[in-house]
Amino acid sequence: MSEPAIPLHDLHPEPDDFRSEVMDGLRASPKTLPCKYFYDERGSQLFDQICEADEYYPTRTEVQILRDHADELGAALGPECAVVEFGSGSSTKTHLLLRALTEPVAYVPVDISREHLMQAARRLAMAFPDLPVRPVCADFTGELSLPALAREPRRTIVFFPGSTIGNFALEPRRTLLARIARLTGPGGGLLIGIDLKKDSATLEPAYNDRAGITRDFNLNLLHRINRELDGDFDTDSFTHSAFYNQDQGRIEMHLVSGAEQTVSIGDDSVAFEKGESIRTECSYKFAVDEFGALASEAGFRLEATFSDPLQRFAVLWLETQA
Ligand code: AVI
Repeated sequence: MSEPAIPLHDLHPEPDDFRSEVMDGLRASPKTLPCKYFYDERGSQLFDQICEADEYYPTRTEVQILRDHADELGAALGPECAVVEFGSGSSTKTHLLLRALTEPVAYVPVDISREHLMQAARRLAMAFPDLPVRPVCADFTGELSLPALAREPRRTIVFFPGSTIGNFALEPRRTLLARIARLTGPGGGLLIGIDLKKDSATLEPAYNDRAGITRDFNLNLLHRINRELDGDFDTDSFTHSAFYNQDQGRIEMHLVSGAEQTVSIGDDSVAFEKGESIRTECSYKFAVDEFGALASEAGFRLEATFSDPLQRFAVLWLETQA
């Protein structure tokens, strides 16, 4: 039997300009690179391995929260929700949420990669044959429109797991929350995973796993620049560094140059001092109240908080206000 076709709502997102964003970041002081470029094929594989690492508690903990609180979650969100997920969401988390809900009306994954999106949508449709799956190819950090649905949902919710919101700096985070509030409309809401503030003895090992997966994930960014932008980074002369910046409430990941050197990227070149670093990622950690206050500026009210016994991670249900 052939599989039913899944209609794609294609908003034709602009492709990223990898070269210009890399050069802008490396010409800045201090040097930075955008963390969204971690996720090429190799980087995505490494990220999946990070999620399995003993030290990286967020994924495991969030999955456990969704399992342990499935009934309360289903009751809080109520029946007939349309679930919009930011990311293509083929994960265990998506399945747990959809199973927790009563009669969901549609599942709408949003992803910039058409190929990943359609693969994940097909897998999801096979696992939930009665649920309309309506993928949207778009950059979820920009303005979005949703496809028309055959059945009117009682509410539209955005599901944004993984504490990916922690990889956004304050202003883009505010902008994204305000966009989600507009997208979901009054009575809709946001179900979001956030990594909680905690002691650096727990935080730092999560970004410095013993097996070196996070180190390889970080260094893969330089390999990617070498491969795709004709770079000549000597990747052995850069070391991975990740630490908790208490003042900023964030883990910072860096790549530190072990020597004074000049690197070519196509026709451009970039000079490094010995010990100079490139900041490749910030991963903000939150207190529930702090996040609730930020979300309320964007038009949400914190309705429910689900957490684990060690209070390492939280899943927040935020309802959009009229
Ligand atoms: C995707 N994001 C929420 C991860 C994080 O923890 O900030 C990315 C990551 N970086 C290193 N390990 C995991």
